[in-house]
Parts: sequence; C-alpha cells; structure tokens
Amino acid sequence: MPFGFPFHSAQEMIDSLKGPFALPPQGDVSILAKPVQGKGFTLKNAMVVQPMEGCDGTAEGAPTDWTTRRYCRFAAGGAGLLWMEAVSVNPEARANPNQLMITEENVESFRALLEAARQAARDAGLEPPKIIAQLTHSGRWSRPYDEKKPIRSWTSPVLDAHQGLPADYPIITDEELEALPEQFGRSTKLCMQAGFDGVDVKACHLYLMSEMLGGFDRPGPYGGSYENRTKIYFACVDAARAEIGGGILAARVNLYDGEAGRWGVGENLSLALEEPLRLVRDLAARGVTLLNITMGTPYYNPHVNRPYARGGYEQPENPVDGVARLLYGCARAQKEAPDVVCVATGFSYLRQFGPAFAAGLIAEGGAKCAGWGRGSFAYPDFAKDVIEKGGMIPDKCCVTCGVCTRIMRQPTGRPGCPVRDTAWYAPEFYRVMGGKK
Ligand SMILES: Cc1cc2nc3c(=O)[nH]c(=O)nc-3n(C[C@H](O)[C@H](O)[C@H](O)COP(=O)(O)O)c2cc1C
Repeated sequence: MPFGFPFHSAQEMIDSLKGPFALPPQGDVSILAKPVQGKGFTLKNAMVVQPMEGCDGTAEGAPTDWTTRRYCRFAAGGAGLLWMEAVSVNPEARANPNQLMITEENVESFRALLEAARQAARDAGLEPPKIIAQLTHSGRWSRPYDEKKPIRSWTSPVLDAHQGLPADYPIITDEELEALPEQFGRSTKLCMQAGFDGVDVKACHLYLMSEMLGGFDRPGPYGGSYENRTKIYFACVDAARAEIGGGILAARVNLYDGEAGRWGVGENLSLALEEPLRLVRDLAARGVTLLNITMGTPYYNPHVNRPYARGGYEQPENPVDGVARLLYGCARAQKEAPDVVCVATGFSYLRQFGPAFAAGLIAEGGAKCAGWGRGSFAYPDFAKDVIEKGGMIPDKCCVTCGVCTRIMRQPTGRPGCPVRDTAWYAPEFYRVMGGKK
C-alpha cells in the first residue's frame, strides 16, 4: 500500500503537503447545509453526488433496478445535487456495454428513475435534490460491446502506446465530429423530456471532447488553435442550450490532463491554466451556469484524477498534494467565473476531514459546492450526517481502496462499494473477480 492513509487529523494532512498547492483553510461545515443560488436555479445545499458510473444499465441503455437503487439512496442521502453519471449520446460512444444511453425508446424508463429518486427523498422527509445528466462521448475509451473500440481524435504517443493502438489506427474524421452537436442536442431534448433538471456537456477525463481540447497536432479545422480545438465542443454546448429550456446547462471540464504536452500542462507537469481558464470564461459566456472542475484521466493517471489510499501503482506524489491541486484548480475557475456555480472535486481521499476543507474552500470563494464521488458510493447519506450531525462518521467513509474501479474494469462488473455496502456489492465483487484477490 503506497501511501495508505496515515492521517489521524486534518493538521497531519496539512503538514504532509510537499507540492506547490495548499489545502484550503478548514471552515465551519454549516456553510455546506445552506442553499446555493445559481443563475436560474437553487440547490437546497452545497453538497453534490459526483457522477459515478454504475455500469448497470440494460444493453439498450435504460436504467435497471440496480441503477434505481443507487439513485434512490443518493436522493434519500440529502445532497443538494445529484450529478448523474455518464449517459452516452450514441451506441458507439459508450464506455461499456451497460452504460446508460438515453433514446426515444427508453426515455420513459429515465422518467421512472427520476420519479423514484425524488420519491425516495420525500419518503426520507427531504425536499428532492436537483438531478442533472452527464452527456458523454467516450472517445478513445469507448467499449460499446464486448471489445474495446477506441475512437481517437488525434495521435498520442503516450496514450496510443498505453492502449496498444497501432500508428495506422483510424482517427475520427471531421465529418464524424460534425455529426456530434446534433446528437448532444437530441440527447438533451430527451433528458428534458424525461424530467432531468439539466444536462452536463462533458469535456473531462480525456473522453472525446476533453481529448479534443488538447488536440494541438490534429490537422484541419478542429486541431491546432484554441478556436479550432474548442469548435466542436462549443457547438455541442450550443446544441444542448437550444434544447435545455429553463433547465440547468452544465459542464464537467478538465483544467489539467496531467500528461506532458496536453491540455493545461506546462513544464515538468506544472499547471498551465491560461487556456483552461479561457474555456471557463467562454463557457460562462455561452450560458453554462454550473461547472464541475476535475483533472486527469482514470485510465492513465488516476492519482491525478482521484488520489487514493490503495491503487494499481505507487503514486508519484502524496495523495493530499493531488487533492490540493484539484481544489486549487476549482478556486481558480470559480474566481474566473464568479456567477457560475463551481463544484469542487477531490474530497473522498480526505475521509471525515473532507467537509471542513470543503467548507473552508466555499467560505473563501474557491467554490460554491463540493462533490463526493467514491465517497457517495460508500456513504450515500453523507450530506444528511453533515447537516444533522455536523460531520461525517469515520466508519462510514470511503477508504479509497480502489475496489469500485476494479469491479468496473471487469467485463459486466457493476461498481459500488463492497466495503460499506457489503450485502449488495460484496457478492458482485466475488462474482466478477472470480478467484482473483
Ligand atoms: C467507479 C467510478 C465511476 C466514475 N464514473 C464517472 C462518470 O460517469 N463521470 C465522471 O465525470 N466521473 C466519473 N468518475 C470520477 C468521479 O466522479 C470523481 O471525479 C473521482 O472519483 C474523484 O472524486 P472523489 O475523490 O470524490 O472520488 C468515476 C469514478 C469512479 C471511481
């Protein structure tokens, strides 16, 4: 276990920092329970369930009982915003054969899911949260059927080698890219028909739109200059805006890819935020009112994306430094777009110490909301405990052991938390891992 979790106090975490970024000050967690006012929407509190793919949809992309169970637990758990996991805009763009995908045929099943989740909140005596869908094209991480079928937008010596893609592997054409805005628009229309409160046009984690932001070498109209690299993404955002009605137009974006030569990355893997912050301003000007700030990719540099206690390789940095980088990025974005509600990512590693740092970040204007990803799988009612008990209970916290991801990487695996939601997910872990530890 590379770094494990050697911390007994928030101060020990602060003292462990070695990199250029500080953690925010610790604040009074009552700020997390207060309503958040966005442009045209109100969240009942500042706590967010981050998008967490459950890989438990039907082959046609509809939610199943497993999906419904997850969202009912989240809704009854008290968070102000459920940022629903990746929902594909077309069959080829799915990251796994059981990824959600909204279509004319299954829109009613999404409506039923939303109704069930809102009812679960009411049954728990709570006002229902806002629920938005994350619209995605998985790009080079597409695995729509049993086999991986990467759709790359440019060549990358590092990622191509990582994925074993030969030099002559196809690159998505300009014409194929030009078909995407219509797909994002259509999916947005269906999401609003199903009753979502809004949609996120996803550009993070090196999925297609995120990869394109760093397409410095791609020839033609969609590579090279900032204007070219953002053209298709902005067209997708505009297409979503045209269908959103009074709903929330959101975006989850990478500010930093964490790999040399890529988006947001400077000398020696330092942060180079000039273009990413320009993107933040441009998205705000295009009508995006809710932003979720993230970094890295789970496939290649998960220590950047979601600092962990236990993972597939030894992290090259103290995970608390990784969290500090994520929170610093959000603070920069929030300052750039003060009217936008920015959601900070990266609290799960901090366990029960997370809420105080989230509160401090919000109090000093570095975010308006704080999100928990793996922490939501482990502890779906974390928000309720923060509101009612003034904090998170250590024995309910996510231990960032990576088991949810290990389940997800197995064919047909449905990720959840076997550590804290044992009766439901331990059998799933043993089913997909077979004899593997
Ligand atoms: C199993 C799993 C599924 C995920 N699914 C998504 C997803 O669908 N969309 C997305 O933007 N991020 C996804 N993420 C990333 C999380 O939303 C989050 O950014 C990351 O886990 C870091 O936050 P945390 O430290 O609170 O876990 C996923 C992460 C895991 C571990």
